[in-house]
Amino acid sequence: MAETKKKTTAKAPAKKTAAKKTVTKKTPAAKKPATKAAAAKKPTATKKATATKKPATKAVAKKTAAKKAPAKKTTAKKAAPKKANPAVSSRKPMRQTVTFRVKRGTVIGERLQQKDQDYKVSYDGAMTVLQGLEVIKGDMDGTLTFRRSCRASICGSCGMFIANRSRLACKTKIKDLVEGNAEKNIAPVKDGIITIEPQKNQPVLKDLVVDIEPFYNKVKDIIPYVQEGAESEKSVDKDSFSQVNMVSNCIMCGSCVSDCTAMAVNPDFIGPAALAKAYRFVADPREGSKTERLKELSEKNGIWDCVRCGMCIDACPKDVAPMQAIVKLRSKAIDAGITNHAGARHSMSMKKDIATWGVLNEPFMLLKTLRFGIFSQIGNALNLFKKGKIPNPLPFDHKATKLNEVKAIFAELEKNPIDVDTKAEDSGPGAG
Ligand code: SF4
Ligand code: SF4
Ligand code: FES
Repeated sequence: MAETKKKTTAKAPAKKTAAKKTVTKKTPAAKKPATKAAAAKKPTATKKATATKKPATKAVAKKTAAKKAPAKKTTAKKAAPKKANPAVSSRKPMRQTVTFRVKRGTVIGERLQQKDQDYKVSYDGAMTVLQGLEVIKGDMDGTLTFRRSCRASICGSCGMFIANRSRLACKTKIKDLVEGNAEKNIAPVKDGIITIEPQKNQPVLKDLVVDIEPFYNKVKDIIPYVQEGAESEKSVDKDSFSQVNMVSNCIMCGSCVSDCTAMAVNPDFIGPAALAKAYRFVADPREGSKTERLKELSEKNGIWDCVRCGMCIDACPKDVAPMQAIVKLRSKAIDAGITNHAGARHSMSMKKDIATWGVLNEPFMLLKTLRFGIFSQIGNALNLFKKGKIPNPLPFDHKATKLNEVKAIFAELEKNPIDVDTKAEDSGPGAG
């Protein structure tokens, strides 16, 4: 016992007093370390079984541990997280590298000169294209020029043409582009290269910055505020305001303008964003000049110049769905008797053909749409005729087999007309 005391004191000089006190005052307790030490040197039968890894004793040891020593169980459980530490570290964001192929441009004289420049960017699962561009600008090349402000899909300033579509750089994750994301309708990029270009259909000022003045001027042209006038309603109901709200979400990012196929061939087309904004005022019950607005919007470069490709719906990061707004403007214009446009005539004769024959009568429809303008299409018509692509226009060849059913649908629509303001699903591709 004296030996044990000495050993304990010698081994733990820092706890000299305490050890002495404990050992002197509580003699039985002093035995415990001795037993522990002995146990460490000469394990009991149970401890032996636990310590030894002989398969025969393992089961016994497990049972013993379960029945007699639940404390050991806790110790075993506590040890598990220690082993799991590598797993925890593996959950740390994995960094990978991707190539940003940025179309850089400078206006020299009056000519824009563009070239591609590659940058290697290290990214993790949460990093956006905008963050990647900021890394390039901050650490690799301070001359790279792009716009951004809010970094939260609110200001609309970081619109770019990324991986062949117009997107907001701050809303687009690099990982989604590299791996693809079916939920967001994003296909993986080829060869791990993300191409980043300035928006389309707008003049480039430098690198990824486009001149937004033409776009803003078109919005100004549609008079973007409620006007006083005879058509102003005094009461405003909830439904009409849901229409106003739908297009009010626009953040003027220009993505729809950039992807618009009609603007690509006709830069004077008012464009999806300005037309969606125009619908916002035509749908507003407080607007006093709705018919006048519809007349102006039905002129050249207006609502009938949209080719209903649907690209603006896909491109819009705020679900404004400009094409739906355009189709609604068309319906409203026809309802208001504003039909002096080939587009309006085309739409009306299509409806009439289906109601009469159940199918389109294309040769007659062309005549009704273009009127005297059909002479400009004679060359095309002859080519189509030679190739057998002009069907017989006579009515007996132009009837749907179940014409009665088609007529029944039209009769039902006459009784219960669709409310164009609230039936967004009737404004999809092919409508109007
Ligand atoms: S649907 Fe019309 S406005 Fe929209 S992108 Fe196509 S052409 Fe442009
Ligand atoms: S309609 Fe959508 S895509 Fe077009 S400018 Fe507004 S927010 Fe952008
Ligand atoms: S930085 Fe504002 S929308 Fe992207």
